Amino acid sequence: MLAWPSGSFQTRRTTVDHAAASATQRIIDQVAQCPSGALSIRTEDSIERAAAATPITMEVQANGPLLVKGTVQIKHADGRLEQKDTQCAICRCGHSENKPYCDGSHRRTGFQG
Ligand code: FES
Repeated sequence: MLAWPSGSFQTRRTTVDHAAASATQRIIDQVAQCPSGALSIRTEDSIERAAAATPITMEVQANGPLLVKGTVQIKHADGRLEQKDTQCAICRCGHSENKPYCDGSHRRTGFQG
């Protein structure tokens, strides 16, 4: 979830300074470019769309993660519940530092599968 709409926010890899931009659209564009679904925006409209969800699809990426597309709830080992509204990338290689999500480590380790 992102801070909205003032200031800036930082992800593990990107700092988005939207103070100098046409704020809302720049943020929406940045989030839309996130291939893993780690960035998301939750608005009243998106919550309604999630409620009328389309079927969940899963795509196995060659030598990479499992892309899960659609609204899913992930129950973590500690019982914490997390909702992903667009897509998320689930690690298949076992080397992610951010399990169950892919952090790109499959490239570094040369995962084949
Ligand atoms: S599949 Fe990407 S880190 Fe494991």
